[in-house]
Amino acid sequence: MRLLVFGGWGQLGADLVLACEGRHQLVRPHRSEVDVTDAVAVQRVVREQRPDAVLNAAAFHKVEACEAEPGAAFAVNAVGAHNVARAAAAEGSVCVFVSTDYVFDGMNDDGYVESHPPRPINVYGVTKAAGERLVEVASPRAVVVRTSGLFGHAGSSGKGGNFIETMLGMASRDEPISVVDDRRFSPTSASDLAERLLQLLESGRAAGIYHLANAGSCSWFELARTTFELAGVQARLTPRASRPDEVPRPTSSVLRDTRSEGAGLPPARPWREALERYLRERNRLDDRMKVPLE
Ligand SMILES: NC(=O)c1ccc[n+]([C@@H]2O[C@H](COP(=O)([O-])OP(=O)(O)OC[C@H]3O[C@@H](n4cnc5c(N)ncnc54)[C@H](OP(=O)(O)O)[C@@H]3O)[C@@H](O)[C@H]2O)c1
Repeated sequence: MRLLVFGGWGQLGADLVLACEGRHQLVRPHRSEVDVTDAVAVQRVVREQRPDAVLNAAAFHKVEACEAEPGAAFAVNAVGAHNVARAAAAEGSVCVFVSTDYVFDGMNDDGYVESHPPRPINVYGVTKAAGERLVEVASPRAVVVRTSGLFGHAGSSGKGGNFIETMLGMASRDEPISVVDDRRFSPTSASDLAERLLQLLESGRAAGIYHLANAGSCSWFELARTTFELAGVQARLTPRASRPDEVPRPTSSVLRDTRSEGAGLPPARPWREALERYLRERNRLDDRMKVPLE
């Protein structure tokens, strides 16, 4: 399969490259070569590359920056998504748009299935929900994949790293760390997501919306505590509540996956196992936690 990835030099892109090795051909133009907000440039590269599938991982996803610059966020997350989907449709390529749990309002304690109507509560979520809809309108072969709380070796370029490394860095400097304990989500390994995205494309059966995240859920505080426990690190960690002056974020945005099995995917790995694997690969897993991998 020939895969063209926009936003391919970021965190997810780095793991997609690894997952494709020896398996699929991956092309990832840099943002400086093709900006997704430039419809003509997007169309040109899709026409040149003639990919089987186009995956759009480009995003403006720093939540505070999106509130400050809604126009710029909309340009990348919504108009850019439309540009990519339309160009893919014109070449007969499958289009995969990577979206987010932030399209939901977070009021559902039981989590969200794929068909739950989006009701975003911040600008980032609104622009991604608009992107989802525009992608569906532009391309009959569109696939929307929602994911959440990514951690990957490359770290998110748009957010400046990943949460796990931020926590470990703060602990190594013996800084006091207070982390929100009133927002639940499904932390997701970028490498697991990359693998599942490929499996979805390989199935040849993908259509519509999918929730691809690691299984289970926790709060950000619990994620930090588990990271320190697995890494054998002492940290000055305390839980805190969300503050009213912060940009609103969903309280519970757990993604329930009811559709990937129908496309032949195996069950998602629990987030704690995925975190353990990530720390092991970075040589950060505490020796006492090491059990042989299958
Ligand atoms: N990270 C998370 O926790 C998380 C959670 C839920 C969903 N997601 C979604 O997952 C996807 C991948 O996230 P990620 O963590 O891999 O993000 P990332 O590391 O920030 O990567 C995003 C990539 O998009 C590129 N980009 C930004 N604006 C662009 C534009 N106008 N044209 C072309 N490329 C552009 C960036 O290039 P530059 O670095 O050069 O700007 C970067 O390479 C995104 O769609 C995001 O919304 C992420």
